[in-house]
Parts: sequence; structure tokens; C-alpha cells
Amino acid sequence: MSNTMQAIEITKPGGPEVLKPTSRAVPVAGVGEIVIRVAYAGVNRPDAAQRAGTYAPPPDASDLPGLEASGVVAEVGPGVTRWKIGDEVCALLPGGGYAEYVATPAVHALPVPAGMDLRAAACLPETFFTVWTNVFDRGGLQAGERFLVHGGSSGIGTTAIQLATARGARVFATAGSSEKCAACVGLGAEQAINYREEDFVEILKAEGGANLILDMVGGSYLPRNLLALATEGRLVQIALLGGAKVEMNLAQIMMRRLTLTGSTLRPQSVEAKAQIAEALEREVWPLLTAGRIAPVMDSEFAFTEAAAAHAYLETSKHIGKIVLKVAG
Ligand SMILES: NC(=O)c1ccc[n+]([C@@H]2O[C@H](COP(=O)([O-])OP(=O)(O)OC[C@H]3O[C@@H](n4cnc5c(N)ncnc54)[C@H](OP(=O)(O)O)[C@@H]3O)[C@@H](O)[C@H]2O)c1
Repeated sequence: MSNTMQAIEITKPGGPEVLKPTSRAVPVAGVGEIVIRVAYAGVNRPDAAQRAGTYAPPPDASDLPGLEASGVVAEVGPGVTRWKIGDEVCALLPGGGYAEYVATPAVHALPVPAGMDLRAAACLPETFFTVWTNVFDRGGLQAGERFLVHGGSSGIGTTAIQLATARGARVFATAGSSEKCAACVGLGAEQAINYREEDFVEILKAEGGANLILDMVGGSYLPRNLLALATEGRLVQIALLGGAKVEMNLAQIMMRRLTLTGSTLRPQSVEAKAQIAEALEREVWPLLTAGRIAPVMDSEFAFTEAAAAHAYLETSKHIGKIVLKVAG
């Protein structure tokens, strides 16, 4: 194995054009880590935020973008017993997925589900870890509850609709076009709401209110989300695409006993993310293996076309996931 590899780096904060091919040293597996020879790398909205300079990587993470990848184990670090060289895996990464090789804690890797190819497997970690921890751990979604997910056609949204449906929730989704709404219904949503034409508050209130909302918009959505919640409802905030600052009426929270919470995945401890991986393998991997759920694939770009992939992501025309083909 050569000591150097091809990677895509963020040359300076800015638009997609700041993503440029580069040559870097191949990472070495530290204690508890594996190095993966990357086949496909998932492209996620947080990568675009990192590129733009609004979402800095944790201090100990690679500066290269890329939060998830699939591929083959190329090196096993001290203390790792589960994986051996040659195993096919998909993994959540601290960063560095836009590269031929990437190091990650071994406990953040999962087997490629039986019957799934490496291309689809690359689309699993970032959205499945995020949805599991926010919708089921933090949000406590139960079968029979009314669940509203904003951005229903996003990577996160398409995952949330499928998982919540598979676990027996009644799912409502918002999206910005009729084509996106049709995709949400195709994935199991009972009702998809085109937010450009309809008011999600009125629709959810008519149903008795949402027991749980997963929101990536924030801003002006916050007061409307509070109105759309049922008594004792929970709002989980995972992003702020519509803005971070907003005025709200705290009385809503008291009078209807609402819970407002949120999280980001990347800065959490290795142990916390390992627990999410364990839960996914136990609760969700059987659904993937059985073909009951599957990542929604929008498009594939060549590794060297990462800038084009970001430009496309930021048009928001996609439905589901975008991947970079690195090798394989
Ligand atoms: N907290 C965490 O741990 C965590 C982890 C992963 C991702 N995230 C966040 O979750 C969000 C979804 O990630 P993703 O990779 O699934 O994204 P994505 O596929 O790029 O989808 C984002 C979608 O949000 C919708 N949207 C609504 N309001 C928007 C606005 N003001 N600006 C831009 N888009 C808007 C767009 O669809 P419409 O046409 O329907 O508007 C867009 O397609 C991102 O904000 C990401 O940063 C958070």
C-alpha cells in the first residue's frame, strides 16, 4: 500500500469551487481504529456547511470533508477484534471520507447489510445514526404516535419517514414540491405537505397535533412547530437551515407541557456514537437486510467531481442521497 493517497480538501471557506483534489498521507489506524479503503463516500449537508466555514470539524478530526463511507477494511489498529482486513463495512466518520483511505473508531463501523451493495451502504451511517438518536432515543417516538418530519425528501427526511413508518408511527412530512411530496408518500408518509401551498400547522392541528416533530429548519418554523405539537409533544431540533434566532412564546411550553430539545452528532463521544451503532445493528439492520427499508439514492458523482456534487446538493433538487464514487 502506498503511503500517499488522493483526497478532496477544502482549500479555503467558500463555495463548491474551493473543493480541490490533493495528495495526503494515508492515515494510520490508532488504538481502537480501523482504516477503510473507501469505495463510496456519502455527501451530506453538513459537509457543505463545513466547506462554507460555518461548521468547524472537532479539533481532533481530519480537516478533510466526509462523514460517512463504505469500503473494505485495509488496516486494523491495536485492540480491535471485531474486524479483519478485507471485511466490507460502512462507517460513521469523524471526517475525512472524501479520500481513498480513512481512519475511524472500529466501534463506529457496521457490516454492509446482506444483499446491499457498497454504493447504497455508503448512504446509511450519517442519516441513520442521526435519525435513530434524535427520533427514537431523544424524541422517544412510539408506535401509533403522530410524527412530523420537515425536509421529508432530504437524506435525513427519507430515512426518518421509513424508520418511523416501519416502527408503527403515523408519519407526516413537509417538502417543497409536489414531486418531493410524492416521494415522501411513496416511502410511507400518511400525508406529505407541500409547505409552499399548505400550512402544516393547520393540517397537524386537525389531526390532534404532532406528538413529535423532527426539524432542520428552525427560524420562523419554531413558533409554528410549537403550535403544531399536541399537548405533551416533543420538538427535536437538528439543524437551523432557516435561521438560529427567533422570538417565541414560552407560555406555549408551560401550558401544553411541551419538550424542546435537539442535538448534533459529530461532537459526541466515541462511546455515545458506539451505543447508537449497537442500537442500529440490533434494531435497524434486520429491516435493511429484509429489504423493508433502503436508502433512497438520488445520484452518484465521480470522486474528482466533489465540487459539482456540492453545487447540486445546494440546489436542493435532490431526493434522498448523493454519493461520491471513490473506488470499486
Ligand atoms: N444534528 C445532527 O446531528 C445532524 C446530522 C446530519 C445532518 N444534520 C442536518 O440535517 C439537515 C438535513 O441534512 P441532509 O444531509 O439530509 O440534507 P439535504 O439532503 O441536503 O436536504 C436538506 C433539505 O432541506 C430542505 N430545506 C428546508 N428549508 C430549507 C432552507 N431554508 N435551506 C435549504 N434547504 C431547506 C430542502 O428541501 P425542500 O425543497 O423541501 O425545501 C433540502 O432538500 C441539514 O441541515 C444537516 O446539516 C444534522
